[in-house]
Formats: sequence, C-alpha cells, structure tokens
Amino acid sequence: MRRGGQIKKFVVILTCASMVFAAAGCGAGGNTQGDSTKNTQTEEAAATETTEAESTAADQEAAEQGMEPEQAALQDPQAWEWDAEDEETLRYAFAKEFGGRAGVCVPMAALSDAARMEIVKGQFNSVTMENEMKPDTFLGNKPNIGEDGFPVLSFTVPDMMLKEIKAYNDTAGNDGRKIMVRGHVLVWHSQTPEWFFHEEYNVDKPYVDQETMLARMESYIKQVMEHYEGADSEYQGMIYAWDVVNEAVNDTDGGMRTDSSWFRVFNSSDFVEQAFVYANRYAPAHIKLFYNDYNDTNPKKADGICRLIEQIKANPEARIDGMGMQGHYDMDFSDVLFKQAAKKYAAVVDEIQITELDLKASRGFDGENTEEEYQKQAEVYKSLYDAVKSLKQEDVPITAIVFWGTDDRHSWLQSANAAGGSADGTRVQCPLLFDKDYEKKPAFWAFVDDSKLEAAE
Ligand code: GLA
Repeated sequence: MRRGGQIKKFVVILTCASMVFAAAGCGAGGNTQGDSTKNTQTEEAAATETTEAESTAADQEAAEQGMEPEQAALQDPQAWEWDAEDEETLRYAFAKEFGGRAGVCVPMAALSDAARMEIVKGQFNSVTMENEMKPDTFLGNKPNIGEDGFPVLSFTVPDMMLKEIKAYNDTAGNDGRKIMVRGHVLVWHSQTPEWFFHEEYNVDKPYVDQETMLARMESYIKQVMEHYEGADSEYQGMIYAWDVVNEAVNDTDGGMRTDSSWFRVFNSSDFVEQAFVYANRYAPAHIKLFYNDYNDTNPKKADGICRLIEQIKANPEARIDGMGMQGHYDMDFSDVLFKQAAKKYAAVVDEIQITELDLKASRGFDGENTEEEYQKQAEVYKSLYDAVKSLKQEDVPITAIVFWGTDDRHSWLQSANAAGGSADGTRVQCPLLFDKDYEKKPAFWAFVDDSKLEAAE
C-alpha cells in the first residue's frame, strides 16, 4: 500500500536523523563500536565532499540560469523537505509520485475568502491567476499609450495577488509548501482588447500591418518580463513558467485557428513563432516557456500543435520548453488518447504540464445523485493519474498538474462560456476535488490516497 510505504520512509529518515547524534550512522550494523565510529567519520567526510561537490555544481547551474541557489532549490521537487502534516496533500503526493507541482487557478476574489485560501495554502504549490495576468488586465479597457507609442501595462491587480503569495511564502515553512506562479498568458486571441490590433489603437480603423503588430507584441512581452524579472523587481523568481501562446491551433485539422485578431493581422503562424522569440529574448532562462491549448488529446490537433512547435524550434532565436495540455476533459476521458498525445508532445518539448484540469459531469447528471457521480468522477481522475504515473515510468516528464479552480461552487463550468472545453450553463457541474462546501470529494483521494477510494466503493 502506497501510504504505508511513505509513512515508513518518513519514520526511517527520522530515526536516522536522531541516530546521527549518537554517532552511530544508519548502516546495517555489525561493526564494533570503535570501527563503526571510524567508518562513520570517513563516510561522513566522503558524504560532505560529495554534498559540497553536488551543491557547487547545482549552484553553478543555478547561476547559469540566472537564479540564486535558494531559488534553484525551490524549482527542484526532489530537494523539497516535508513535515508530517504535509502527507495528506496534493503537493506531497505529486512531488513523490511524479516529481511535479500541484497547481490551482485562483481569481482575485478568492483572496478574501479564507476557507478557499485554506485549500490553496493547504494543498498546492503552484498558482495560476484565473484572469489577472491576461492581456485584458494588463492592457485595460482603454488604451494608455506611452511616449514610445506603445500601451503602458498596468500591473496593479496581479501584483496585489503576488504580494499575498509572497507574504505566505515567507511564513510557509518548508520549500514544498512555497507557491510558485504559472504566468498565464501572453499572446491569446481571447481576453485581449480589440483596440490592441488596430491602427491608432482605434477599433474603427483597419488592422495594423505585421511589422507594427510585432513591435507591439515585443513591447508588451518586454514590459511584462521587466516588471516581474527586472533587477529591481520584488517579484523576481516567483514566476516559474509562462504560457507564451494560448489556443492558436484549430480543432478540425490542426491548422491555425482563424477566428483570432492575431491571425487576421498575420494570416499565418508567424506571430506564434515570434512570440517565443521575444519571450526568449526577455525572460530569464529559468522561466519555462509553454505553448498551451485545449482539446489536447485530439490526435489531429496534437499533430498540428507538434508541427507548430517544430516551426518555433527551427528558429534559433526562439525557445520553447513545454506543452500545456489544458485538460478540460469530461467523463468520456480516454487514458489511451491522453497517453498517445502526451508522448507526441514529449517528442518535441522537454516537459508537459496539465494546466487547467477539470471534468465536466456525465451527460445524465442532474445535480441530484452526487454520490454516484462523485465516485465515477474519482475513477476517471484515477485513470488520468495512473496514466501520468505510467508516463513518468516511460520518461515522459509531466512537471505539474494544475486544477482549474479550488472547488465546485466557483468553477467556470457552472455558467455558459464560449471558450474551448466549456460547459453550456444548463446543468450543475461538479468538476473539481472539493465540493461546493469546500469538503474533500472522492476525487481528492484518487490523487492523494486511492486506498481510501477503494474503501468507499
Ligand atoms: C481557457 C483559458 C483559461 C480560461 C478558460 C476558461 O482555457 O486558457 O485562461 O479562460 O479558458 O475559464
């Protein structure tokens, strides 16, 4: 049983730690007292040398990536230490089971909801702002044009959230609990003010030419990176990944989606490639750059996304590190298709994250028989998690699973939305791991301790 194993490991480590004070080490024993002391000293010296060598190499690597050693430690799930009370958490389970982060999307409104923040702080170590780092927040409704002729970005709202996260991190305790941020999203056809694409920032005027649009894109990405990563930024190092481009590929044949002002200006995929050039130019090396999309297990779309990624990679000035599979799935989720798609992505990028995971309810679900629906949902989540773990065995690196919301009450799926993977707003949904009263559902145990799930069957 998984949990038994984990708890035993914890006890062994504690026992070893206390035995260090008795200078006895943690070996199998059998030596005389004198020998064992000598051996222990030699072993300790060797261990110290190895640790020092390892930490020098690690520090050097961190420096190359533009990070302080403490920052680098935060990026390495293997290096995180844990306390006993972390054990029944998603972040602990994910670090142990597949070496990744446990994430959740959080809107500004959640900050004043203590119970919701308890879930965030109690379970997760990655946060994506639900809307507050999207272009319409940074750019605002009305253009505010600077002396250089480009829109001046406003960071007030996201920064309020980052300040909260920073204050929490300062008192969180161990590194495994510290929250890092997925930046979401730089270039997207949706939630971007239409004026951004038009001459004189006026929607009544024609679209700008490509050169002008690229200059606007560059200014935008530069301002974001300078604000969060510049030498004077108090937020330096808090963001570990950025979705550089969101949802550029269509659902039919994996070509470019055309219902997008980005596409209308460029009439090709060049803006996607160029976004990764600018992101690479202005983001420090430790920030992972992602392409992010929904309907991510559809084979044709996955092939189209891989073609796009190849195009980006062929540009020596661009960098792309990861593929974000949004993961807006339903009860027909296929672990076979999921694995196939993840393997395709892993062939072209270094890492994969599930960035917006939730599950739409069964077609017949009317909001009444929740027990049955919760159980079914837990099984679907378990099949997804089993797939993640088996992919890990096959060296397909999934580095985070991010849920699109803390609890069922606040899920975007409760209302109609035109975005991909959305619900139609006609039925009650229960897509997440905590119910509308913030209680853990069976789906939670599918990730944290599936033996509890079986017991409930
Ligand atoms: C897409 C976006 C998210 C969010 C959802 C709907 O998946 O990437 O930012 O807007 O739609 O909540």
